[in-house]
Amino acid sequence: MRRQIIIGNWKMNGSLLSIKSLCESLTKLAHESDVADIAVCVPSIYLPYVQTNLKNICLGVQNVSQYNNGAYTGEISTTMLQDFNCRYVIVGHSERRAFFGETDEDIANKTKQVVQAGLTAIVCVGETLEERTTGNLQSILARQLQVVLNKLSTKELEKLIIAYEPVWAIGTGLAATAHQVQDVHRYLRKIVTNFDEELAKNIKIIYGGSLKPSNASELLSLEDVDGGLIGGASLNGKDFGQIIKQAKKI
Ligand code: PGA
Repeated sequence: MRRQIIIGNWKMNGSLLSIKSLCESLTKLAHESDVADIAVCVPSIYLPYVQTNLKNICLGVQNVSQYNNGAYTGEISTTMLQDFNCRYVIVGHSERRAFFGETDEDIANKTKQVVQAGLTAIVCVGETLEERTTGNLQSILARQLQVVLNKLSTKELEKLIIAYEPVWAIGTGLAATAHQVQDVHRYLRKIVTNFDEELAKNIKIIYGGSLKPSNASELLSLEDVDGGLIGGASLNGKDFGQIIKQAKKI
């Protein structure tokens, strides 16, 4: 049985003041970590602050450079993240694909960089509404996932979490239905099974896209759902806490 993981994605939100109060309310949630693993992916600049002020919740960020170090103005390396005890990196979020032109190849390179540094990569895959309605759901997901699977060794893939995030569900308040989520998660696990059966049994596939206290219980209880990636609701300590409480207990 796979232990669930609940990950907050703060995106480009907050200020030192609001993050201070969020850390205070999240500290009270730390005891929920006997139910599921908990992590927050914060804006990198706040990593040192959150590291100092938030105990018992793992730390992550939302992007990283695919390069080691050197003349890459504006980039942050995995080594720098490790200086602040960062354990998770979101890679290939649809907002990075859409607004910053990240390609499947960039995402595979970043994923490799992350896992080779010993960090866990949360690789996001997901279709737009148009891709879904034109019958391209499976081919889009297969393409996004296969590039990463091809780039990494089986050992490296053990440091991977797959996040299914339908683009049309992100930030819209309209999550995918339980049926849609289970269908896609089963399909993604099948792709991994074709690659390596043992890996497929253990790999965590989490759902993101308008996951909130009111739908968490239904979505997190699905057979192939191993946790959640939460944007909006992770900015509110109470909502995030309610979602964590509904994680599957093992
Ligand atoms: P949302 O975002 O929960 O606000 O829909 C999820 C995500 O983009 O990771």
